[in-house]
Amino acid sequence: KKKLSIAIDGPAAAGKSTVAKIVAEKLSYIYIDTGAMYRALTYKAIVNRINLEEEAPLLDTLLSSDIKLLPSDKGQLVYLDNQDITDEIRSAEVTNSVSYVAKHQAVREEMVRRQQAFAIGGGVVMDGRDIGTHVLPGAEVKVFLLASVDERAVRRHNENIQKGFSSDLDKLKMEIARRDKIDSEREIAPLKKAEDAIEINTTSLTIPNVVEKIMVLVQERI
Ligand code: C5P
Repeated sequence: KKKLSIAIDGPAAAGKSTVAKIVAEKLSYIYIDTGAMYRALTYKAIVNRINLEEEAPLLDTLLSSDIKLLPSDKGQLVYLDNQDITDEIRSAEVTNSVSYVAKHQAVREEMVRRQQAFAIGGGVVMDGRDIGTHVLPGAEVKVFLLASVDERAVRRHNENIQKGFSSDLDKLKMEIARRDKIDSEREIAPLKKAEDAIEINTTSLTIPNVVEKIMVLVQERI
């Protein structure tokens, strides 16, 4: 059987990582959350008080950083310089700053280089914003997940409440919309559906529904 590369892109909180993880598990492929890499750099930049508008210090920080994505029973763990920062990178501060870090060309080039190295040989499910367009333009399966801002905010809200976190639905809506705007309007590799990507609107679909649709695409190409 061929080992495919599967690219899953889409706006914030569209359910990309949830379905990507399940698809990877079903196929025994590796799952790579590229957003976690941008988040890890953002976390380190905040801790080190680096100006997020300046490319050079961000690139220096990235070049001297070891970012590892490791699978575990509890999901994917993120290590920065051998420190577990899985929870830290989901903080509101990181979430609301990461799109500024992700704008810089030199930062993106280095991230893409690392992501492409992870994907050598195929057998990967990678999720992000520019996977189908820039990181894995030759991916055999490209999916673009969509859902309304309201739907995405409600899902994230319920997730927060389930985890026992405080959550403000209107604030979530605003933050998601703002992150999408920055990600779609940036100059370098903006969030955009690849021409050959299959669009799936998940608004009225369950997680198993979405996984099933992707598995059909996989079976056609494997
Ligand atoms: O996927 P996640 O929401 O964790 O991504 C966090 C942020 O990282 C995005 O809002 C975007 O600014 C950036 N990102 C990116 N390119 C990717 C993945 C994430 O620019 N491939």
